[in-house]
Amino acid sequence: MIGHRIAAIPGDGIGREVLPAAQRVLDAAASRYDVRLSWEELPWSCAWYAEHGAMMPADGIDRLRETDAIFVGAIGHPRVPDHVSLWGLLIPIRRAFDQYVNLRPARLLPGLASPLRDCGRFDVAIVRENTEGEYSDVGGRFATPAGDVAVQESIFTRRGCERVLRYAFALARSRGGRLISATKSNGIMHTMPFWDEVTAEVAAEHPDVEWRRMHVDALAARFITDPEDLDVVVGSNLFGDILSDLAAAVSGSLGVAPSANLDPTRENPSMFEPVHGSAPDIAGRGVANPIAQVWCGAMMLEHLGHPEAAADVLAAIETVTADPVLRTRDLGGKATTKDVTSALVDVLAKA
Ligand SMILES: NC(=O)c1ccc[n+]([C@@H]2O[C@H](COP(=O)([O-])OP(=O)(O)OC[C@H]3O[C@@H](n4cnc5c(N)ncnc54)[C@H](O)[C@@H]3O)[C@@H](O)[C@H]2O)c1
Repeated sequence: MIGHRIAAIPGDGIGREVLPAAQRVLDAAASRYDVRLSWEELPWSCAWYAEHGAMMPADGIDRLRETDAIFVGAIGHPRVPDHVSLWGLLIPIRRAFDQYVNLRPARLLPGLASPLRDCGRFDVAIVRENTEGEYSDVGGRFATPAGDVAVQESIFTRRGCERVLRYAFALARSRGGRLISATKSNGIMHTMPFWDEVTAEVAAEHPDVEWRRMHVDALAARFITDPEDLDVVVGSNLFGDILSDLAAAVSGSLGVAPSANLDPTRENPSMFEPVHGSAPDIAGRGVANPIAQVWCGAMMLEHLGHPEAAADVLAAIETVTADPVLRTRDLGGKATTKDVTSALVDVLAKA
């Protein structure tokens, strides 16, 4: 029996519904391969913030350091400003553990309909830089004689760009062999030409990968006009974030979009959380789609060294999405979180 210690942070809103659902499915998949997941439940969330004035305790990062992986539901509540909750929990975790790759696959799953009329095959991996770039705390607000001014600096380091680009090119090599780098070097005159330069250098190390750069606005349009053409897309923190929500929408719903915050060196625990947020509009009603969270769990199993268990979970997801009765509201159906979860566990039991 192989054991893994996993920090489980359900967080807020639907995170508290989809995370326990995914735990059921992952336990079922892991047990088939004699793998035991020991969950350490951590209540860090906006509700915890209301009680303690912080999103996690002062020793939170040290406690997480002891675990093999971190499994997160969703963080955010209308009563706590979003920048407080994000910068109080997820961003410190990503940075403390050097989770410099944010890998966000998006795929049109069997049976699901894209909002695009002629989507065809859609299977893209978005690689987002996850520790620097536009999401920086350098800047400030200033009162000037000409009025209020807000300044936000972007930080792009050679090391930060190189390592995420190397990951993306290697991923392209293991998939369809094609990569697009998102840029905006026409309008952003310092950081983006630098990103482009480093991309060209890393590309030279991977002559077998067919690559090109595209301005992010044109690339966004490409997701709509030519989704079949995409394989690996790599972008800065902000560009990757925006493009992955677009990719999720093309694949049918945010409710099926997973995300992994990876430290590919494996020196630190990696973190797995869906692309979606806490969805206050549907929270507490038992109707959230658990598939994004379950798919995050499959990525976690894979990262922990259990590709067969991960493949079983993905196959179960595909079986369930193919059944119209098992669609949650976001996919136009009537199934509940529990219906979909039980169906996933049943499929795994029969496999
Ligand atoms: N990583 C995170 O934890 C994360 C990510 C995005 C937003 N947030 C936070 O979540 C809160 C709500 O943000 P938002 O409303 O902009 O985005 P959201 O992703 O929570 O919801 C957007 C829309 O998608 C629907 N949706 C999302 N996930 C779904 C699921 N699994 N099943 C069915 N429908 C689903 C919601 O009902 C809503 O209509 C905010 O506080 C925001 O900061 C957190």
